[in-house]
Amino acid sequence: MCGIMGYVGPQEATPILVDGLRRLEYRGYDSAGIAVANGSIDIRKAQGKIVNLETLLEVEPLAGSVGIGHTRWATHGVPSDKNAHPHSDPSGEFVVVHNGIIENFQSLKEGLIDKGAEFTSETDTEILAHLIAREYDGDIVEAVRRTVALSEGAYAMVVMTKREPGKIVAVRKISPLVVGLGDGETFLASDIPAVLHRTRDFIIIEDDEMVIVTADGATVETIDGSPVDREVIHIDWDSQQAEKGGYEHFMLKEINEQPAVITETLAGRLDEDGTVWLEDVSFDDDYVRDLDRVWITACGTAYHAGLIGQEIFRRVLRLPANVEYAHELRYADPIMSSNQLTIAISQSGETADTLAAARQAGEQGSRMLAITNVVGSTLARYADDILYTRAGPEISVASTKAYMAMLIAQYLLALRIGAVRGTVDPDLAAALSHGLHQMPGVIEEVLSREPQAIVAAEAIKDAQDVYFIGRGLDYAIAMEGSLKLKEISYLHSEAMPAGELKHGTLALITDGVPVVVILTQRAVYDKTISAVQEVKARGGRIIAVAYDTDTEIDKYADIVMRIPDVEDLLGPVAAVVPLQLLAYHVARMRDHDIDQPRNLAKSVTVE
Ligand code: AGP
Repeated sequence: MCGIMGYVGPQEATPILVDGLRRLEYRGYDSAGIAVANGSIDIRKAQGKIVNLETLLEVEPLAGSVGIGHTRWATHGVPSDKNAHPHSDPSGEFVVVHNGIIENFQSLKEGLIDKGAEFTSETDTEILAHLIAREYDGDIVEAVRRTVALSEGAYAMVVMTKREPGKIVAVRKISPLVVGLGDGETFLASDIPAVLHRTRDFIIIEDDEMVIVTADGATVETIDGSPVDREVIHIDWDSQQAEKGGYEHFMLKEINEQPAVITETLAGRLDEDGTVWLEDVSFDDDYVRDLDRVWITACGTAYHAGLIGQEIFRRVLRLPANVEYAHELRYADPIMSSNQLTIAISQSGETADTLAAARQAGEQGSRMLAITNVVGSTLARYADDILYTRAGPEISVASTKAYMAMLIAQYLLALRIGAVRGTVDPDLAAALSHGLHQMPGVIEEVLSREPQAIVAAEAIKDAQDVYFIGRGLDYAIAMEGSLKLKEISYLHSEAMPAGELKHGTLALITDGVPVVVILTQRAVYDKTISAVQEVKARGGRIIAVAYDTDTEIDKYADIVMRIPDVEDLLGPVAAVVPLQLLAYHVARMRDHDIDQPRNLAKSVTVE
């Protein structure tokens, strides 16, 4: 997830671009850069936060009233000056900024290299500039159109050329893009907050559309050239709301970004038959065949993602797999060997306990694979292999979209390893692949049912204690649902395997005590219902997360949060979202500081 800016008008472009990028810094801050046209097109870019770009521009300013800009969240190529956007073709006459993933960039790059092209960066973006220059025959719009036809993936791209001054061409293929309409000037941005203080009139570009921007306004058309008559909308948010995309809190915005996060984390990595490509995973097939155990280590929500992963690896790889809290594993003196893979999961890649446990695994000879959301993080730099999640910056302390991306990453890894070990039957691989590709739509549907979570939140917001139960993968989700509730609503909550309730905790279930039960695992459904009946018999209230086709639960539950039917193995991906929304709305009703809960930090870099 990156931030994109564009400007065409009578004013100097540089301050407008830099100001807009600063307002988009929450979308990524590995590096930033701008390109401004003034006869030729000149580029200034710098690694790190926007302030580094501003410092560069003080020394080497740019003049001109047409320009584009970019603040980066790295996905291909570590943060660096040379990987920073904008990128140009060798002539410098075609300049591009881009947000998202070009899935087939390796094959496109090889084709260009075969014809003598040379590249200065490791990014997928640079090949776009080369392609546009090659396709250019006097019409930049057609050159961009032909380049888009060659490029597969989820992205937004903004292009300008010295050959056609006063014009910017942009394309949206999933990653967001908006046009701000000023008086004799026009703005382009990834998100409304970048320019809301300059105009409140916007055109929202939709997927598979292009827009040609000049000082006089914007012309929208489909990728294949049909004109689009898109209404201008007037935005009356204040700037605070704008940065949250109109949502009241970053947490709710990030919960709603999960469909796009799944799309981006899958992009270029999974095809329909379940074949997986993981660009930063280099272990070879012999290593995979000799594997005799998988360890997973993490903390907090990342640990809960690992609880899902251990089940996936057991079922798909037919290997012993277990997740351990990093703060326990590092002192547990585990017996590890070179035939064992240790997967360290960390959104920030900076959690002290996780780093320590990962290092210990390496010292014991285990290969270490990092699942992390931050390119170039300490964990990434230490790992033998890296599987980057592509959730973009997660601002809310309570992790939601990063957790979702961690789940997707583990499905990908299981399919990748299972294919080599021959433990994944083709039907399962195809079913999981199909299910994963359908998941953005499933999550959109679950999000549309937010009112069900609000009803459930009303029912528990004044409770003393809330219990979460489930079996197998549903227990793993119960753990995450319980943590979400605790950390932002400050309500005491506890999660446990449904079968464990009768071994003691049932003593606490009395009249009206709320118990949240997750019911996605059909193989153990009846067993979980037994626990539900135990609760009901003692007067407890049941709030269930259940499939649309589950009619049995209606006999017992006071409230049901419904999710579309999916594969059992994918059940957690859909089931966690109602619990995220439940926690969010309880905290909102209790009027807490949701994005910055008391006592907590986004990254626990101390032991
Ligand atoms: C989750 O909502 C919390 N913010 C916390 O448990 C977090 O998951 C944990 O501290 C691990 O952080 P990491 O993923 O950056 O390592």
